[in-house]
This record gives sequence, structure tokens and C-alpha cells, in this order.
Amino acid sequence: MKKIVISTGGGDAPGLNAVIYAVVHACYRRGWEVYGSRNGYKGLLDMDELVRLGLEDVEGIYSLGGTIIGSTNKGDPFAMPVENLAGEIQVVDVSDKILKNFQRMGFDCHIAIGGDGSLEIARKFANKGMPVIGVPKTIDNDLEATDRTFGFDTAVATATEALDKLHSTAKSHDRVMVVEVMGRDAGWIALYSGISGGADAILIPEIPFDIGKVCDKIMDNALHEKDYAIIVVAEGAMALGGEVVSKGNGELGRSEVLLGGIGEWVASEIREKTEKDTRSLVLGHLQRGGSPTTFDRLLAMRFGAAAVRLVEKGIFGHMVALVSPHMSSVALEIAVKSRRKVDMKNDKVFTAREIGICLGD
Ligand code: F6P
Repeated sequence: MKKIVISTGGGDAPGLNAVIYAVVHACYRRGWEVYGSRNGYKGLLDMDELVRLGLEDVEGIYSLGGTIIGSTNKGDPFAMPVENLAGEIQVVDVSDKILKNFQRMGFDCHIAIGGDGSLEIARKFANKGMPVIGVPKTIDNDLEATDRTFGFDTAVATATEALDKLHSTAKSHDRVMVVEVMGRDAGWIALYSGISGGADAILIPEIPFDIGKVCDKIMDNALHEKDYAIIVVAEGAMALGGEVVSKGNGELGRSEVLLGGIGEWVASEIREKTEKDTRSLVLGHLQRGGSPTTFDRLLAMRFGAAAVRLVEKGIFGHMVALVSPHMSSVALEIAVKSRRKVDMKNDKVFTAREIGICLGD
């Protein structure tokens, strides 16, 4: 008999519930108990936010977006902002308290579902002696140690559908539509959706772009009687010699700046340089919502089941990973070290260039 606690941390991604579903079912078959720590580590910190998860709690949740146990990207237990009696904000380390609560509850393992930030926290807990297993999640698909993270396929499907819809309105008005998609450090969502959705230009963090090249591409469209254009920009893209566009540090306790605004910047440059009617829109959190695609559901369930197999084998301090076609695992130390960026020798980059998509260089 084992007792497992699951948490979902960082920005949500379609497929989180499917992982929870698989973990609860795989544990039930073994006669093990599962608990959910609500809102990242909050459940383990304030014990009243720990919930017992039975089969009835996860019935049918694999098709739902979001996470039934909540998530947060402001809850680093090693640097948590708390208000003291004088009303001042202090950053404190509450990890010892969490470890004690984990031990007091008699948990055998913590399954931490998260992206790079949450997995780094999981690694620190593993180093403190907590038996931890990581499950890779992020719509950005930027973890090097796994071929795929769940959530990415759904985000790409949402972005591609949006591009399909924008074509008709852009064409009706002979307009340039600039679409900002997510992708903080890596341009995978922009690249996959941009190619699939017939973009004229795709701008990604890995290639600082020359706005003049983008404008040339838009003007060249007229040579073959196309008077509109679709430009896809990843939120982390930047102009040559420029910087990422952000809205500052965001909320208290957030470790990353809030990106956003590069789409409108690109649109205003295009408007000025080409004198074409240009509009911009930000797809934003739409990409994180909704029902996971079949691919993401299946991947998420495979990750969840693989995590439980690791618990059974007593392999801790690892993250489950897809090394196609197999489920594998990699030490958290290694998993958190490197990001998967779009490399210039990737076939999707060749494909984009081959079919005339401008990458801004
Ligand atoms: O890491 C995933 C991600 O969706 C990024 O692409 C984006 O910059 C960030 O999360 C947004 O986070 P928040 O939910 O705090 O706005």
C-alpha cells in the first residue's frame, strides 16, 4: 500500500486532467491512495487544501481542459512572498514545512506535473530527500529531455484554427493580420501553426527579425495577386538589435516577466512602412484552454501511467519523458538543464523556407 500526492504547477495546459486521471486509475489498480495538493504546493503547505482523489473524483476528466486541483505560477516554496504582521511583504522559504507535512501524511511519493519552473522546484525537493517524480507539461514544448510535452498539440490546433478564420477576413479587406501566439523562449507554436495555417511570415525568438524583410514579403504578395497577408509572431520574438516586449514583472511572486505586445509593435511598423491596412490580435490564453486533442490526452495518460510505474520500481528524482516511440525517464537534474529551442537545421524550418514563408532573416 502506497500513498501518493499529485500537484499541478505553473501555467495550465490541456492534458493536466488526463495525467491526474491516469495516475488515480493506475494507483487504484494497485490498491494505493492518491491525494491532490491544491494550487501547486499550497495543499502540502496548508493541509486543509489536500484532497483525497478517488475514481469518482476523476470520472470523465481526461477530456477537460484546466486542472481539477488548480495550479499557480506564483507559488515557489523556496521563495514565497508572504505578508508579515506589519503588512510588509517578505520572501520566505517554506520548503521545510512542506517536507514535514509530506512526511507527517505518510506519503511515499510526490508526482509533480509542471514545466521548467515547477520541475526545478521538484528537483530541489528531491535534493532535500522527498521522493519526487516529474511529469513534463508546457504548451511551449520547450523541454529538451522529452520529445514532446502535453498541451502543445492542443495549443497548435487552436492557433491553426484561428489562422484559418483570419484568412477570410484578411482577404475581404486586403489587410495584413498580425497574430501574436505564445512561445516565451521557443517558437514551436508559431512555427507549427504558421506553416499549417498558411502564414506569410513567422517570427520566433530564435531568429531576431528584420522588419524590412517582413514588409518586402508582404509587398511581394502583390506580384501574384495576393493583397493580404498573415504574420505569426511568438510573444518572445524580437527585432534585430531590439529586446523582448513585456508588460513588466507582473504579479507578486511571479518569477518571469509578463510578455506581450510584440504583435502590435510589428503591426504598427508594417502599417507605417507599407501603408497597408494592418490589424493585430493576441491569441493569449485561448491557447491554454479547452479540451485536449487526442494526441495530448494519450500522451498525458501515458505520462501518468509511466510515473506510477516509476513509483512501483522505486525510481525517484526522475521525470517521465517521451523518447519516441517509448516512455522513458530522465534524472530531474538533467531534465531541468536545457531548453528545446527551434534549431535552424529542423525540417520544419526548411519546410517554411521552401514554401516561401519569411522567417524575418
Ligand atoms: O509557459 C507557458 C506560457 O503559456 C508562456 O508561453 C506565457 O508567457 C506564460 O505561460 C503566460 O503565463 P501567465 O498564465 O502567467 O499569463
